[in-house]
Amino acid sequence: MADAGPGPSAGADRRVRIYEVGPRDGLQNEAAPIPTAAKARFVELLVAAGLREIEATSFVSPRAIPQLADADELLPALPQATGLRYPVLVPNLHGMARAEAAGADALAVFTAATNAFTEHNIGMTVTDSLDAFEPILERAGELGWWRRAYVSTAFGCPYTGRVDPDQAVEVAVRLRELGADEICFGDTIGVGVPDQVAELTARATAAGLTLDRVAFHFHDTRGTALANVVAGLAAGIRCFDASTGGTGGCPYAPGAAGNLATEDLVYLLDASGWEHGVRLDGVLEAARFIAAQLGRPLGSKVGRAGGWDPANGAPTGRG
Ligand code: COA
Ligand code: ZN
Repeated sequence: MADAGPGPSAGADRRVRIYEVGPRDGLQNEAAPIPTAAKARFVELLVAAGLREIEATSFVSPRAIPQLADADELLPALPQATGLRYPVLVPNLHGMARAEAAGADALAVFTAATNAFTEHNIGMTVTDSLDAFEPILERAGELGWWRRAYVSTAFGCPYTGRVDPDQAVEVAVRLRELGADEICFGDTIGVGVPDQVAELTARATAAGLTLDRVAFHFHDTRGTALANVVAGLAAGIRCFDASTGGTGGCPYAPGAAGNLATEDLVYLLDASGWEHGVRLDGVLEAARFIAAQLGRPLGSKVGRAGGWDPANGAPTGRG
């Protein structure tokens, strides 16, 4: 790609990882059951679009998240190829045993910066959750799995308000010590703004976290997600979560609807000259598929407008 475009200067540091959370975060809050075969087809379309890290499902209590109760059947049904990673959410050793039996090789554990949130979400304090994750992360380490750890409510908590970045970083440092390969800070309720992203990244660096092991998970609840991505890129972050179709939201985070849409992220990264290996038209096809499954129109900006071909000014990928 020519180095005349906007964005950072050309060089090795132009690669960004897009971590797809649509099948998990996107669907977990949907009330109407989606057939397992449709979820598998969705993942197939995501893989065809070039996504290589796809958070596929959760091995959580089926009573807590009924939509993902089919994790045991879904995971083995997903397309396999080298270079593909399907992390799954694991809350406890029961979930770990299920994930192992289903053939997982990557997981994500999830806690938060605030006790009020973890108590609603997983019924424990942050400290207790770290204790609970210790044997899970250890077991996954023995098995050679890739291990991610979420720090939700890193910017704000639906129960206690603004969160001090050091509070989020402290939890992150602990998770690194427990063996997490990557820390993902979540703006669970979509309240964060770019200055906070820069601040949190600076505090994380100061605390000794290396930025190639830090990701951000933005929700577009208040329209700040892409601005936050730009701030993250400028601060040196190279992994961002997104959900194809812009679906999602945590059931324990009131009003948290809407992950950053993968198609919106891909458009921004493409137009800014970042490399990521994902094709926008493929993402749009997957987005239309899942929207049809959910029986509603696409909510994302690029989902509605399509992409744009700078060579002729025409919209692209509208199918
Ligand atoms: N998989 C399947 N079933 C599970 C399970 C798991 N990982 N963990 C617990 N259960 C079952 C137990 O077997 C038990 O079933 P029973 O009543 O039929 O015997 C029941 O759930 C209660 O078990 P308990 O250990 O008391 O767990 P809990 O009810 O305190 O739930 C969590 C704790 C963490 C397992 C549960 O809150 C959970 O799965 N939360 C997930 C939340 C989530 O995914 N949020 C979205 C991500 S942001
Ligand atoms: Zn989310």
